[in-house]
This record gives sequence, C-alpha cells and structure tokens, in this order.
Amino acid sequence: MRAKSVTLENVTKEFVDAEGNKMRAVDNVSLQIKEGQFITLLGPSGCGKTTTLRMIAGFEELSKGNLFFGDENVVHIPANKRDCTMVFQSYALFPHMTVYENICYGLKLKKLAKPEIEKRVAPVMDIMNLHVNANRMPNQLSGGQQQRVALARALVMEPGVLLFDEPLSNLDAKLRVTMRDEISRVQRELGITAIYVTHDQSEAMSLSDQIVVMNAGKIEQVGTPLEIYQQPKSRFVSDFIGTANFLEGKVVQVSKEKLTVRTNGSTLDVSQANAGSFKEGQQVAVVVRPESIVLDGNEGKKATVTKSVFMGAIQEYEIDYSGVPLYAIVADPGGKRIYATGDEVAVHFSSRSLHVVPA
Ligand SMILES: Nc1ncnc2c1ncn2[C@@H]1O[C@H](COP(=O)(O)OP(=O)(O)O)[C@@H](O)[C@H]1O
Ligand SMILES: [Mg+2]
Repeated sequence: MRAKSVTLENVTKEFVDAEGNKMRAVDNVSLQIKEGQFITLLGPSGCGKTTTLRMIAGFEELSKGNLFFGDENVVHIPANKRDCTMVFQSYALFPHMTVYENICYGLKLKKLAKPEIEKRVAPVMDIMNLHVNANRMPNQLSGGQQQRVALARALVMEPGVLLFDEPLSNLDAKLRVTMRDEISRVQRELGITAIYVTHDQSEAMSLSDQIVVMNAGKIEQVGTPLEIYQQPKSRFVSDFIGTANFLEGKVVQVSKEKLTVRTNGSTLDVSQANAGSFKEGQQVAVVVRPESIVLDGNEGKKATVTKSVFMGAIQEYEIDYSGVPLYAIVADPGGKRIYATGDEVAVHFSSRSLHVVPA
C-alpha cells in the first residue's frame, strides 16, 4: 500500500441553515497529515469533524481552500476517483451478500480478475480474523464482527488514505476497546495513513499519533496525546481532554519559561515553555490535573475533604480549597493514609503538572 500524505489549506465549508443564513461548519482549517500517520479529529458534536472528513473523501465540495493527496490537488477529483476509503459508523454492509462477497464488492466494481481479487482478499481476511465467517450473512454476525467486515472491505481497496467516522459508536464499551486495539494494530502493520473522527477522548488518546482538537469549525490545537494533555493551549482543550480543575487568577510575573500567578489567596509558580505569550496583569486559569494534587504533604494550604471514595487502584477525593471545589485522585491508596469526609488536609500541587491557560 502506498500511504499518501494529506494537506488541507484554508479549508472552509459554508452551509445555509433552516432560516436561510450562511453558517461556517468548517472555518479556515489548515492541516498537514504525513503518510502513514494516524491522526484524529476530536471535538464535541457539531464542531465540524464529519464535514471535514466528507470534504477529504470528496462527498462534500469545499466552499474555499485547497486539498492535496500527496502533491496532487484533489479538489476537482470526484469521490470515486480519490485514493481513499471511508469506514462508517453504520458499517453499511450489503445484507444480501456473504461476508466474502461484501469484502470483494469494491474490487469487482473495479473489474479485477478473480485470481487478483483472491490474492488481495486472503491476507486481509487473515489480518482481520474473518476466514471462519466468510460464508455467513451480515445478520448472522455480532456488531464487532460486522465492523471487522466493514474495515476489511475498506482495506482490500488498498487506499492511500483510510477515513473513519466514529466507527465504534454502535458497539458496547468492552467491544469498543477491543476494536480500537484492532484498528490500531492493522493500521500500524499496514503503515496506512488514517484520519479518524471521534468525540471520544479515550479513543483519540489511545489511537493517535496526532490529535486535532476542533471547536466550532476551527482547530484549537494539534499535538501528540501527551502534548495536548500536558500543554493545552486553551481552557477548552484542557477541559475536553482529561479532567481539569481550574484556579482563576492573575499573572503577577512573567520570566523566561516561568509564570507566577496569584490565585485564591496564594501564589503559584508554573514552568511553561510559552510563558512569554502571557502579560503581567492578565486574567488566567491554572489547570490542575486531579493526579497532581498532593494531600499527604504537611506543607500546603488547609482544605477540607468533602467526599472520599475508595476505588481500589485509586482514591477519589473532592476537597473544598478555600471555596474552590477540587477533584483529586491518589494512586495506590492502600499504601497511603486515606482521608475521610470532613478531614482537614494540607494541599499542594506537584508543580511539574500545573499549566496556565488564558481565562
Ligand atoms: N448538509 C448540511 N446542511 C446544513 N448544515 C449542515 C450539513 N451538514 C452539517 N451541517 C452543520 O454543520 C455543523 C457541523 O456538522 P458536522 O460536521 O456533522 O459535526 P460533527 O461531525 O463534529 O458532529 C453542524 O452545525 C451541522 O448541523
Ligand atoms: Mg460527526
């Protein structure tokens, strides 16, 4: 398979809504996806993920901008001539065809000879573990098996780019995890370029080389899962990825790669590469991840435990931190002191994991 890179240049899509007003579903999006990369478009419902994917596939025309597969501008190339295949949430299998016939369908349309079809289908049936089900009808398969067939049908086309639109949403939680690992394994084994749409952050975190966080038609941030989690650029991103507590505050000092923030009656020093982009006096929020709240220190500000739940691997706390509610988790609670509701604790934050975003 010849994986292709994909480039979006100032891509915009306008729709006319029910009242006849123009609205921008996708607003000036630029993005580079390298060949063989797994990239995920992540964001809340309605932020423009599907529309972006449909433009890449050729199902939707661009209102503005350019789109390249490799060096080739594909804006005027129809969907069926583009080197990409889409896997849908609904599987879209043909109910009257066997598994094998479903998988062969696209190759038959391409008028490939039977031996060639067999040569292409066999390894994909192998990799997806589908041989035993080859002669079954789709309605004799579980949801997970059907999704496997849908993926196999896309893979035999050997597309330069593989597109996924929320492919796991119809599966139950356990199967979602299994299929997610399966998609990841197959994508890596084949070295295919994958563009994956989801609103599920754990799917995005576990699958992606790069995550593109979208909000209201725009890109908020692009980065590896670690970058997005540790260095969110905005309040939206820090809230959407993982769990975030926010301490409202004001910048009192900016130095090289360090910010001093006055918040909630105390002063916090935060090391941060982009410290220079903040100004003294600016209103900000300090993002405090639940796992970076330390309760068993003797030093720190006094707070009160308002909820304490033993979950085995972790202890979950809610604490009242001078009027600000904080959600904290402590790993391996069995080996530590466990606080009860009503206990007074001293709180501090492991500074490595604090992060400042504009208010
Ligand atoms: N064919 C269409 N006509 C009019 N509005 C549309 C159409 N398709 C999508 N939209 C609107 O564009 C916005 C983005 O939709 P979509 O890309 O489906 O979001 P997502 O996949 O992130 O949930 C939404 O407000 C949606 O209602
Ligand atoms: Mg969608």
